[in-house]
Amino acid sequence: MSQEAGLAFPSRAGSNVGAMTTNDSGSAPKPVAKDPWDLPDVSGLTVGVLGGTGPQGRGLAYRFARAGQKVIIGSRAAERAQAAAGELGLGVEGADNADCARRSDVVIVAVPWDGHAKTLESLREELAGKLVIDCVNPLGFDKQGAYALKPEEGSAAEQAAALLPDSRVTAAFHHLSAVLLQDEAIEEIDTDVLVLGEVRADTDLVQALAGRIPGMRGIFAGRLRNAHQVESLVANLISVNRRYKAHAGLRTTDV
Ligand SMILES: NC(=O)c1ccc[n+]([C@@H]2O[C@H](COP(=O)([O-])OP(=O)(O)OC[C@H]3O[C@@H](n4cnc5c(N)ncnc54)[C@H](OP(=O)(O)O)[C@@H]3O)[C@@H](O)[C@H]2O)c1
Repeated sequence: MSQEAGLAFPSRAGSNVGAMTTNDSGSAPKPVAKDPWDLPDVSGLTVGVLGGTGPQGRGLAYRFARAGQKVIIGSRAAERAQAAAGELGLGVEGADNADCARRSDVVIVAVPWDGHAKTLESLREELAGKLVIDCVNPLGFDKQGAYALKPEEGSAAEQAAALLPDSRVTAAFHHLSAVLLQDEAIEEIDTDVLVLGEVRADTDLVQALAGRIPGMRGIFAGRLRNAHQVESLVANLISVNRRYKAHAGLRTTDV
């Protein structure tokens, strides 16, 4: 049997949580794999969004606030963030990026790739100890459409991890349509959210956060060294959207 075919898949939701089993010889009990759907309660966390005045950040801020999360929009200029927050309502606050990072438990990075490194370098101190979620897609555009750039560090997420050694860096929310996120008439966002990171407690938390938005489901999708494919896939989704006049999302089957 190939290694891939022989992978032990974890149990489906709700089964075997916390159970113990014995090996074939009946000796030492070993814990059963943790239920992948046993996710933490994140409802009390404050979510900050760097670059939250743009369509993606604003859309995420809106959805999390609508789900009951405390949200702070960040901007290079506090007044722009406050204006955006005022438009959203729902208790959303606005601050400059540094203040947003300082006051949030979880910080989503939603700035353009061009400003990614500089923004994170400047916020290293404020982001220390924080859970950072990078949703940046390094893309280029030409007459043929969108294409994936190849960051020196491997991906935007790995660049974030390199620049923020004292933060807990994860990657998620790359494949969302900002148009759908911001459309108040849309109740549910029909998509999975691929979540990457090095530490299970952190990726579980991000999955739980994704699950706060009706219709969304967070799925663990590997470590940050595999973030490049996930970020790059957006170039394909943009092609899908252009051909079919759609706002395509993603679903992972059999999970
Ligand atoms: N749009 C989407 O559908 C979508 C979906 C998934 C992921 N993403 C990713 O999310 C990120 C944000 O996307 P977006 O479309 O919202 O981008 P955007 O509108 O171009 O930028 C977002 C905000 O970032 C700030 N910003 C602009 N240039 C900056 C720079 N050089 N340095 C620091 N901050 C800067 C601006 O806010 P202030 O001027 O107020 O500081 C701007 O409003 C991108 O990396 C994108 O790949 C986008």
